[in-house]
Amino acid sequence: MHFQWYPGHMTKAKRMMQENIKLIDLVIELVDARVPISSRNPDIDDLGRNKARMILLNKADLAEERWNDAWVDYFKEKGFSVVKVDSRKGSGMKNIHSVIQEACREKIERDRRRGILNRPVRAMVVGIPNVGKSTFINSLAGKACAKTGNKPGVTKGKQWIRLNRNVELLDTPGILWPKFEDQQVGLRLAFIGSIKDEILNGEELAAEFILFMGKNYPGVLAEKYAIEEMEDPYAVLAEIAESRHCLIRGNELDTNKAASLLLDDFRNGRIGRMTLEYPVQM
Ligand code: G4P
Repeated sequence: MHFQWYPGHMTKAKRMMQENIKLIDLVIELVDARVPISSRNPDIDDLGRNKARMILLNKADLAEERWNDAWVDYFKEKGFSVVKVDSRKGSGMKNIHSVIQEACREKIERDRRRGILNRPVRAMVVGIPNVGKSTFINSLAGKACAKTGNKPGVTKGKQWIRLNRNVELLDTPGILWPKFEDQQVGLRLAFIGSIKDEILNGEELAAEFILFMGKNYPGVLAEKYAIEEMEDPYAVLAEIAESRHCLIRGNELDTNKAASLLLDDFRNGRIGRMTLEYPVQM
């Protein structure tokens, strides 16, 4: 399976990021808890040099809790402040503010030494498409937060959301492009739905997913779809089609439909909480 990306978008996104990053003190980087490394773009380490850094393991509700904890330790060891969150339901959000303060402690102390008091920390959310940036910003900012710089006559410039006395957030997130020189990374991103399905062959992708499941979560698909466990992933797909009555014109098995059903079940957590990569591998 071969993946491609569009360098035009990438260049524009990177330029925007370079512009915006000059304005901020703290980079809040969202990664997908199921694939915390594959959903990062290491360029951010370079772009965000000299900034306070925070990693959010988003969609923690879809990943295995023991691995979420292992990933928290992994990133903490690398010097990041880390929080695991479910931005959709809001769990984990109450820790965010204290972790922002912790991540910016050096900056706050530096300000204090220079006699600058009460200057709010300015932060920006970044991450690859679909990782949950907008959901997170909405959940954090809620409705109660007024936008600053939104005064009459001030139409140009950046919009900052004042979260509280100490923190302002840039309202537009920075888009990082996924890096998949490694085909395994491309596959994992495709499993979680970060690469548009239209550019991939659904059945091929589902077959790869079935192989992954057989290796890492043996027995889970057999139980979920009430099927026999088999080695050939295409045979498994046909079994799923049969068990879920995915049929074309009444009798032929629709394995294409079974492939989307399977991937959709996985992406929405209906097969269970699953982590696709582990700190020990990295
Ligand atoms: P983006 O700005 O980074 O591109 O991502 P966005 O917020 O649009 O979120 C992408 C999808 O991920 C959305 O689902 C969103 O609801 C879901 N999502 C975000 N955070 C979490 C989380 O912590 N847990 C879970 N389970 N899902 C999360 P969607 O299906 O595209 O839209 P919708 O069905 O929510 O409308």
